Amino acid sequence: MTNKTSIQGSWASRWIFILAATGSAVGLGNIWKFPYITGENGGGAFVLVYLACILLVGIPIMMAEVFIGRRARKNPINALIDIAEESESTKKWGIIGAIGMLAGVFIFSFYSVVGGWVLHYIKAMLTGEMADITTEEAGAAFSALLADPVTLLGWHTLFSIMTVFVVAAGINKGIEVATRIMMPALFVLLIILLGYAMSTGGFAQGWNFMFHVDFSQLSWNSALIALGHSFFTLSLGMGTIMAYGSYMTKDASIGKTVLAIGALDTLVALVAGLAIFPIIFANGMDPAAGPGLMFISLPVAFGHMAFGQLFGTLFFVLVGVAAWTSAISLLEPTVAFLVERFKMKRLTASIMLGVVVWALGIACLGSFNFMSDVTLFGKNTFDFLDYITANIMLPLGGILIALFAGWVVKDKFAQEELELHGTLFKLWNISMKFTAPIAVAVVLYFLINPLT
Ligand code: PFF
Ligand code: NA
Repeated sequence: MTNKTSIQGSWASRWIFILAATGSAVGLGNIWKFPYITGENGGGAFVLVYLACILLVGIPIMMAEVFIGRRARKNPINALIDIAEESESTKKWGIIGAIGMLAGVFIFSFYSVVGGWVLHYIKAMLTGEMADITTEEAGAAFSALLADPVTLLGWHTLFSIMTVFVVAAGINKGIEVATRIMMPALFVLLIILLGYAMSTGGFAQGWNFMFHVDFSQLSWNSALIALGHSFFTLSLGMGTIMAYGSYMTKDASIGKTVLAIGALDTLVALVAGLAIFPIIFANGMDPAAGPGLMFISLPVAFGHMAFGQLFGTLFFVLVGVAAWTSAISLLEPTVAFLVERFKMKRLTASIMLGVVVWALGIACLGSFNFMSDVTLFGKNTFDFLDYITANIMLPLGGILIALFAGWVVKDKFAQEELELHGTLFKLWNISMKFTAPIAVAVVLYFLINPLT
């Protein structure tokens, strides 16, 4: 079953797969979420746990997702079913794919709202509204945006339409080109921002905050958030990478490819943190300020920089593109499923799914205004969907994929795809069978039964 191609098409080359998967991985998770959760969870120790999770749990699971997708050449649900049957196991494994698709819908709904904030900031930067803004003014501007459901709805709608548009066009056109130009540009701009941050006088404090490890700052809840974020940031545990893997050519080495994607994603997150925290400290802001962290600190920084208006606009454009390429990948598994299972047209499937996620997004943007008193387990809709996806659904999906790849799939099939032998294969196999599932289980256990 190894020579087929997906009916959706396939990537033109190994590099295109790396670019597409990196486009999925690098997004709001790196530039918006990573710095703010690092701020909320005390810095260094959190960053260390996060890095360990990427290396020990994320990378091996990503390899599993890619090989399952590539071997079956189908959407995640059917891929899991085929691979299970090939190894003489049950179709029930397909359920992991279904949970993943639901997670994709949930994530998209708040992701698109934040994507909308980014679009709003492109406009605000471009028009010079934010020139010479003070910290207080930047905070007030962000609060005013959140308080205004009509503006939020407009941007959320635009972001949703942009995403559906690309998904409907299929995997090859558009997004590859965008990724190829925009990802390097994003990185360059982050470095420029980093240069500015180094000149603010807050750099030592920012560096220290991120890399000085003090385990007394770390709770089990923080460890869970670090673990959950390692799935979120690498787009794991929900079938996205499986779907992208199903369009991958046979000639590429899965291990090397996955390492490249993981390294790029981590680099962008760390550089984003190092660019943002010094600015926070130099301006006496609170690192634990939450979701507004990037939207408040960066306009202040750009306001003080030479060519700040230009760089600021460019920066938010690139964050917007990064968010866009990730948002596309949130919808792709479900669209592929609808097309393959129900013989729908890609356009129909994309629009249908688009309407569902857009509607759910309204509940998320309402969390900051007209629906602020609707809460589930003490969280508003936005926070609730963010929490259960990143901290419960993705890790759970990841554990199940690991157990599946380690215990159900026959070694010879895994080896055929991964082309790993000897010690390397053993290491990967141990990670699937034990390390990854146990790590996730331990963290979830202590979350439910905290040590006091
Ligand atoms: N990895 C993306 C980010 O870091 O912004 C978010 C994401 C995209 C998560 C796609 C999951 C996914 F399937
Ligand atoms: Na990411």
